[in-house]
Order: sequence, then structure tokens, then C-alpha cells
Amino acid sequence: MNYQEILNKGSQILRAHNVKTSNLDCELILSKVINKTREEILINLNNKITKNQESDFIFYLNKRKKKNPVSYILGYKSFWKYRFYINESALIPRPESEHIVEQALKCVPFGRSMNILDIGTGSGCLIISLLNERENCLATAIDISKDALKVAKFNAKLHHLENKIKFFNIDIDKFHSNKYDLIISNPPYINSVDLNRLDDDVRLYEPRIALYGGITGFDEIKKIIEKSSDLLKYNGKLIIEIGDKQKNYTRKILLNNGFYVSKICKDFSGKDRCLVSTKINK
Ligand SMILES: C[S@@+](CC[C@H](N)C(=O)[O-])C[C@H]1O[C@@H](n2cnc3c(N)ncnc32)[C@H](O)[C@@H]1O
Repeated sequence: MNYQEILNKGSQILRAHNVKTSNLDCELILSKVINKTREEILINLNNKITKNQESDFIFYLNKRKKKNPVSYILGYKSFWKYRFYINESALIPRPESEHIVEQALKCVPFGRSMNILDIGTGSGCLIISLLNERENCLATAIDISKDALKVAKFNAKLHHLENKIKFFNIDIDKFHSNKYDLIISNPPYINSVDLNRLDDDVRLYEPRIALYGGITGFDEIKKIIEKSSDLLKYNGKLIIEIGDKQKNYTRKILLNNGFYVSKICKDFSGKDRCLVSTKINK
């Protein structure tokens, strides 16, 4: 079979299983199997694949057919300007979370040495992206999931930042430390009703602990804000991601905990996604 034929066959199978991104997914899977870029595949569509490559392709296609996310199949996800290793223990980095990095970079001037905390680091995509661009900063990254933390540590090594980030496997509730200049967090914020409505790709494969924020979706948001009020220096910043209907209540929790909300960012689909706030109580 040549590239074109296997891609056609794969896309047809995925379409029959209601996978919306069938063409792209097949190209990515083929690129993993034959270890060539998508571009190399698309300009060499008449090239042949071996029998072994064909059976590897079918093996991964069967996973995708069952809605296993393509990032878990590939073992990586691109986020911000970088590539991160990923497996089922950690949430797949989302483009909307890049707003946290963008806002954090605005809070950390070039050359300034700041102490940063990432709560619920997952794959480490937020803090690693930030430290890649602010080399004088040091960070702490915590996660309640031991297995997610392994992914984050692996990524820190991959980006040569293992000496700049300390990792702790701990619930934010139990975390005590010196004060930080900046805290970033993308907490689990999905409520119990929405949890059951998630796409199969997410609901069946991504870690529940990374998604579920309690019955109302606010359990972890509340914990993080209350704790950050203790962990931040005066005038320190907290940048937190929220769900699209959580702005008003989150703002209220922030105000009740001594924060001033300076910015609310919308994601690319126009939904409120990230709040930038400053601790104004001493
Ligand atoms: C939405 S994911 C975010 C992962 C990553 N920061 C990102 O943006 O892709 C939330 C992360 O918070 C962690 N987590 C959930 N509850 C926690 C808690 N109470 N304390 C610390 N981490 C927690 C989860 O294990 C998960 O890795």
C-alpha cells in the first residue's frame, strides 16, 4: 500500500466511527508509524509502506476508533511554542490555557528573578513554557497526582529545567511554603452535570482528577484562591483559568480573599477563560 491508500482507508474507518478529525488524525498516526513529518508524507503520497508499518498503523487506528485522544496515541502535544511528552496520567494541554502563559509573561519582566508557584501542574506545560522564556525565575510545581507529576518531571528534564523547578506531590490544602511573587493555576473546574456531557475522548481517557471540580465546579477554584491569599507576597499576582460560566462567582471569591481583579481574558471562542488578580491585603 502507498501513503495515499492507507490514509484513505484509515480516514474511512475513523469517519465510520464518528471521529471528526479523521484525515488529520490518520496523517498524524502515519507520521508516528513511519517516523516522517506530515509534510514529508503529503508530498510523497505514492511512497510505499511495509507490512509491519501497515499493521502498526491499524493498531493505533483501532485505539483512535475507540476515541482514545490522538495526543495520547502520539505521546506528545504541542503547547505555546513547545512540545510536551504526554500520557494518560496527565491532562492534554489545551490551547485556551496558553492565555495563562501569555498573561504570566506580562507579569514577569525580562531579567527579573521571581519565585513562581504552579498549582496542579499536570504535564508541567504552563510552568515549563513560562520558565523557558524567563530564565532568571525559579519555580515550584505541585500536583495531587503522583503519576501526573512524573510526566511533569520528565518534561522539565526534556526542557533542561529540572534544576529550576521543585516538584511536590501534595494536595494544595496541605501545602505550606515561603511566599511567592506569582501563582498560576489551571484547576479542575468542571461540574457534575457537565462532566457527563464531555466528549468521549475526554470523558473516557483523561484523568477525572484533572477535570472534576466538585458538584458546582468551584471546589478547587475556591481552595486555590484561599490558599493563594496566604502563599502570595503583598502585590503578588494570581492567574487562574476558569470555565466559561464561572467568572462572576470566581471574582466574588477573589474579592472576599483580598484580591483585586485586574483582567479577565476571553479565549479564542470568546468565552471568559482566565482571571488575572493582585493580592492587595497585607
Ligand atoms: C486541569 S489539570 C491542569 C494541568 C496543567 N496545569 C494544564 O494546564 O494542562 C488540573 C491538575 O490539578 C491537579 N489537582 C487536582 N486537585 C488538586 C489539588 N487539590 N491539589 C493539587 N493538585 C490538584 C490534577 O491532578 C491535574 O493535574
